[in-house]
Amino acid sequence: MSGQESLKYSFAGKKVLITGGGRGIGRAVLERLYNDGAILFTLEKDPDFVDQLRKDFPNVRAEVADITDWNKTQEIIESFGPLDCLLNSAATFVFEAFLDITESNFDKQMDLNLKSLFPVTQAVVRGMVAQGTGGSIVNISSLAGCIGTPLGSVYSVSKAGVIMFSCNLAAELGKYNIRVNTFSPTAVDTPLFRQAESGWPKDFYIHRQPLQGSKVLQLDEVVNSILFLLSPLSSMTNGHNLVVDGGILIS
Ligand SMILES: NC(=O)c1ccc[n+]([C@@H]2O[C@H](COP(=O)([O-])OP(=O)(O)OC[C@H]3O[C@@H](n4cnc5c(N)ncnc54)[C@H](O)[C@@H]3O)[C@@H](O)[C@H]2O)c1
Repeated sequence: MSGQESLKYSFAGKKVLITGGGRGIGRAVLERLYNDGAILFTLEKDPDFVDQLRKDFPNVRAEVADITDWNKTQEIIESFGPLDCLLNSAATFVFEAFLDITESNFDKQMDLNLKSLFPVTQAVVRGMVAQGTGGSIVNISSLAGCIGTPLGSVYSVSKAGVIMFSCNLAAELGKYNIRVNTFSPTAVDTPLFRQAESGWPKDFYIHRQPLQGSKVLQLDEVVNSILFLLSPLSSMTNGHNLVVDGGILIS
């Protein structure tokens, strides 16, 4: 890029893996990249979502996979061949009081939200290093990984771990021209959020959000920021945590 162009970039021909592309943020990013001509891969646990993806986006390689299965996940990713970009999106959350946390809820969130990023990213990075043309990785964390919030201690700890995971990889993989960044939104209007919304400590957030206090982020607002981080438009951004929260963090 000459640096003289306006803000645009095409992912046409770029190979991109998205975890949890079946719905929510993962699917929204997948749809935008599909329309831009990217070659897409997704690992999605829910077979119904995979069926739907295959109908809606016939050229996407959508695989039914539980990314908490370390070996199986790596086998599938290796079968894709080298990739240019990775978006780690799949995660889950449960709003619950600290005193109610159970071991199984703790393990479920940690295994998916944090541990699964290791086998997925390791397999992708192996391919990128072998290919020798660098790459861009975006890990989705959350505002909850940056600030203390009520009712989400396990989720917050898992997401704080995601931020540090990105920082470490950014420091370690820069020599391969692989960039690793984090994207941390406040509440986003997705099926996951809608399922959990009744437990969301809304008042806690609204009073802290300078910009449109009651606003829940819409998918387009989230997709644009993720695409910026995935693309060379952010070519020297590495190890950064892009917080999209209407200013909650700084207020
Ligand atoms: N929605 C929000 O308010 C919000 C806010 C901050 C951060 N985030 C983060 O954004 C990311 C996406 O969240 P979302 O709201 O789009 O969620 P979502 O539940 O709508 O989508 C997640 C997708 O991941 C899939 N998935 C779940 N477990 C999986 C597994 N073990 N293996 C493979 N796929 C699996 C689900 O089937 C689903 O299709 C997550 O990392 C989440 O923590 C969301």
